Amino acid sequence: MAGDGGSGSGFCMEIDVRAATIARPHGGPDAQGPVRWDFSTNVNAAGPCPQAVQALARADITRYPDPSYHALRQRLAVWHGVDERRILLAASASEFIQRITAVGERLAPAPVAVPALAYGDYAVAAQACSRAVVGAEDATATLRWCADPGSPLGQDAAPPHDPAATPTVLDAAHAPLRLRGAPCWSSDAEDAVFRLYSPNKALGLPGIRGAYAISPAGAAWPRQTWCDALHAAEPSWPLGAHAVGLLECWTEPATQAWLADARITLRTWTDSLRARLADLGPATCAQRDAVSLRAPAGRDSARSPAPPRLGRAGHHLVWPAGLDARFGAATGGARSAAQRLAAAGHRSPPHLQFRRNAAPMIPNIPELNDATLRSTLQARVDGKIKPLGSLGRLEALAVQIGCILGTSSPRLDQPQLVVFAADHGLAAQGVSAYPSDVT
Ligand SMILES: Cc1ncc(COP(=O)(O)O)c(C=O)c1O
Repeated sequence: MAGDGGSGSGFCMEIDVRAATIARPHGGPDAQGPVRWDFSTNVNAAGPCPQAVQALARADITRYPDPSYHALRQRLAVWHGVDERRILLAASASEFIQRITAVGERLAPAPVAVPALAYGDYAVAAQACSRAVVGAEDATATLRWCADPGSPLGQDAAPPHDPAATPTVLDAAHAPLRLRGAPCWSSDAEDAVFRLYSPNKALGLPGIRGAYAISPAGAAWPRQTWCDALHAAEPSWPLGAHAVGLLECWTEPATQAWLADARITLRTWTDSLRARLADLGPATCAQRDAVSLRAPAGRDSARSPAPPRLGRAGHHLVWPAGLDARFGAATGGARSAAQRLAAAGHRSPPHLQFRRNAAPMIPNIPELNDATLRSTLQARVDGKIKPLGSLGRLEALAVQIGCILGTSSPRLDQPQLVVFAADHGLAAQGVSAYPSDVT
């Protein structure tokens, strides 16, 4: 492994094909439990999606799901506008990656083509099947991986010039979290490849495992043989009841409306993070949806603080020589990164003053005066069907709560009313018509 980056709960890396074994430096929780700031993830930080949470609560976990998942396949097929027989279910995107690599090894044994920087499981799966890993353009490959948006940088990734020529998978795990621009794949190119979807990230629920792929409509290779073999290699009930609930909910208009709104929130966070990074001077924000931070050359490494425990980003922090930390690829870490940078980086760039597992007595209060977020919130309040300003103080309160929560869609999940009361003894002076146990 020549170096690694991060996205999703998985890991990304540049592959050194000579390496004997490939480690899996996943981010997120590890043996020490959840990390305080997980900059390793592309999970939707505006989640979890409330509609999906409700769907999970309704899941019937007392029975096995329908082993053929008839209703779910039908629903996904209608939603994507494809024939139901093209829907392949998977226990997760990672499971599909392993399965198609193993099936491909039997049907067309040869190297696997992986983009230079990519989700690490493609190479891990290839290595598990003793398949060589080659570059994206290598004509000897009989299985090709593409990701659009790319992972972990979120960049547009064009299709190969001959998408139908070789079995190819377009990993669309992060497509629902594309914050800007449009995909550069035509529908013909998409139809020529396997498209892999894993909605748990977009819905902010990566603990629920479950994914699906859409097989190609036509191809220059034996597409049906591949689909039959993929189906045969499926375990019984690849999806549990929760995964079924999640994927069914995924196709609901209310879920997609929530996601569209979440993208607006994420753009606001990402923009404000970029603005703060720009203030830091040495920061470079090279990616479209992701943010990376680079310390200036010649930084005094001897004075560097210990590397923070930041989930997978911790794995690809090059520290202390030449700090090149990706703080929150795309969406997942943007909010926490913005807060973290506001709290620490602003004061003393570029030394970000992380302390390993430090639990501060006073929480970091994020910058609340985010003019963009404030005007987005005000526009939302003004857009409600009511005379402008008619809710008085409540409107200002709604904007303030949104600023505090850092979202254009604030929700108070468990609002609490705190009543302060004391018996100060005044009632004994006869000031009230009633005894104190009444008042
Ligand atoms: C690009 C990409 N593909 C696939 C996956 C794996 O998805 P799943 O959670 O469904 O295994 C990830 C995980 O983060 C990812 O980043």
